[in-house]
Amino acid sequence: MLRVEGEIVKRLTRSGSRNCYDPNMHVAVYPGSFDPLTNGHLDIIRRGTRLFDRLLVAVLENEGKSPLFSVAERVDLISRCTKDIPGVEVCSFSGLLVDFMREQGATVVVRGIRAVSDYEYELQMALMNRELNPAAETIFMLPAVEYTYVSSRLVKEVFRLGGDVARLVPPLVLESLRARLPVGV
Ligand code: PNS
Repeated sequence: MLRVEGEIVKRLTRSGSRNCYDPNMHVAVYPGSFDPLTNGHLDIIRRGTRLFDRLLVAVLENEGKSPLFSVAERVDLISRCTKDIPGVEVCSFSGLLVDFMREQGATVVVRGIRAVSDYEYELQMALMNRELNPAAETIFMLPAVEYTYVSSRLVKEVFRLGGDVARLVPPLVLESLRARLPVGV
C-alpha cells in the first residue's frame, strides 16, 4: 500500500500533468531498505531517471531489521536528497513488491548491482517477482565505480567506529548519522 507523506504529497502534486496512472508513462520502482541512503543509491537514482518518466523510490516497511532510521525518516531523507532530481518520487510500501507495482502502474524494478556477490540474491528476487507477475521486469544498473564497495551496512559500521564516511553519503545523511550516533566523525 502506498503511504504518501508530508513533502511527498507536494512532489506528487507538482508533477502536474504527469498523471501517476498514465498508461503511456514508463514507470519504474527502485525498492530497498535505504537505511540510510548512500551516494551509491543516489547514483542509481540519477541514472534511473534518465531511463524512466517516473522513478518511484520505495522504502520497504520492515521494522524487523532493527533499522537505524524509521521508515518515515528514511522517506524524508531520500525526499530531501532527491528534491532537485526531476522524475523522482519517494514513498514506502509493505507487502509484496509486485502488488505495490500493480497499484503504481509500474512494470520495471530497478536494482543496483555492485559486484558479482550481489548477483545471486538479486537473481532470486528478480525471478521470484517474475514468477509472481510475469510482466515484472528487473533492470540491474551499475553504480559509478567509486561506489561499488559502498553499502548502508558498512557505512553504519564505519561511522559507529569513528571512521569518515563523508564521501560515501549525501551531506543530509551525514548530518542525520551525526545526530543519531554521536560517536562518528
Ligand atoms: O535494500 P534491500 O534490503 O536489499 O531491499 C530488498 C527489497 C526491499 C527489494 C525486497 O526485500 C523486497 O522487495 N521486499 C518486498 C517483499 C517481496 O515482495 N518479497 C518477494 C519478492 S523477493
